[in-house]
Amino acid sequence: MRKHLLGLEGMSRDEIVEILDTADMMRDHLDKGEFDNDYASGSSVVNLFFENSTRTRTSFENASKFVGANIVNISVASSSVTKGESMYDTAMTLQCIKNDIIVMRHSIAGAAHYLSKHVDSHVINAGDGQHEHPTQGLLDMLTMRRHFGRLEGLTVAIIGDIKYSRVARSNIIGLTTMGATVKVFGIKTLMPAGIEEMGATVCESIEEAIKGSDVIMGLRIQLERMQSGQFPSVREYHREFGITADRVKLANANAIIMHPAPVNRGVEISGEVVDSANSKIFEQVTNGLAVRMAVIKLMSEAK
Ligand code: CP
Repeated sequence: MRKHLLGLEGMSRDEIVEILDTADMMRDHLDKGEFDNDYASGSSVVNLFFENSTRTRTSFENASKFVGANIVNISVASSSVTKGESMYDTAMTLQCIKNDIIVMRHSIAGAAHYLSKHVDSHVINAGDGQHEHPTQGLLDMLTMRRHFGRLEGLTVAIIGDIKYSRVARSNIIGLTTMGATVKVFGIKTLMPAGIEEMGATVCESIEEAIKGSDVIMGLRIQLERMQSGQFPSVREYHREFGITADRVKLANANAIIMHPAPVNRGVEISGEVVDSANSKIFEQVTNGLAVRMAVIKLMSEAK
């Protein structure tokens, strides 16, 4: 495991496999109710979230405890950041209080990379702007691999707000590295230019994306974009572009439904599909815990 986890870009197949294999072992511990492990005892982790989070922040918190590490949560709203303290000074302070691993979410792309250049602690990117969310990409790959037994040869359709999604970027990079085929679909205003250069195939319709896919991954439509006129009304969006039970029928037999959450039920995906038997959306959350346990274990060993 390298010193920092800033993104999946540049990671080799072997590096990804090491994390997924370790996460599989962690998932076994979770399934057996073994929450008292000492893989990272003596390590201190700090959660530094400049943006809101439910899943990522709390799963890093539980993951740290379940591998025996100490964990501190910084609430940016009640920290000295509100007095104007810079991200750098905040992180240096956290390092001086002997935190070995800083888990940071920030709205600016490249924030975690910047921090990694200036502190001795390990840095984990928990989402930086529209750039990457590597532990989400890893937990998504773990979920697929546990269902299909492989990643190579799978066809994954990523549907929704591709342009603003760090989850899409991490998945496209990780999945193509692992030999999967990635198709993307989003309305034109939500598709970034040059996405094909990342190895994804752009589809002209949601039906084209879903047809023949093994995985249908929805992405949250950021409702605030509706006000800016980038897409139609919620009802219209769902009717024209939503992941519905009828559209799911176009996918391969044994296909699974995924979504990083939070989910807008009835917008990018119907509630019926979220709750369907082939939905892995809540399974993803538990796999996220396993991936974060694995990353903290491997980083602690790399001290
Ligand atoms: N999927 C994800 O990153 O969720 P949170 O924003 O709740 O952490």
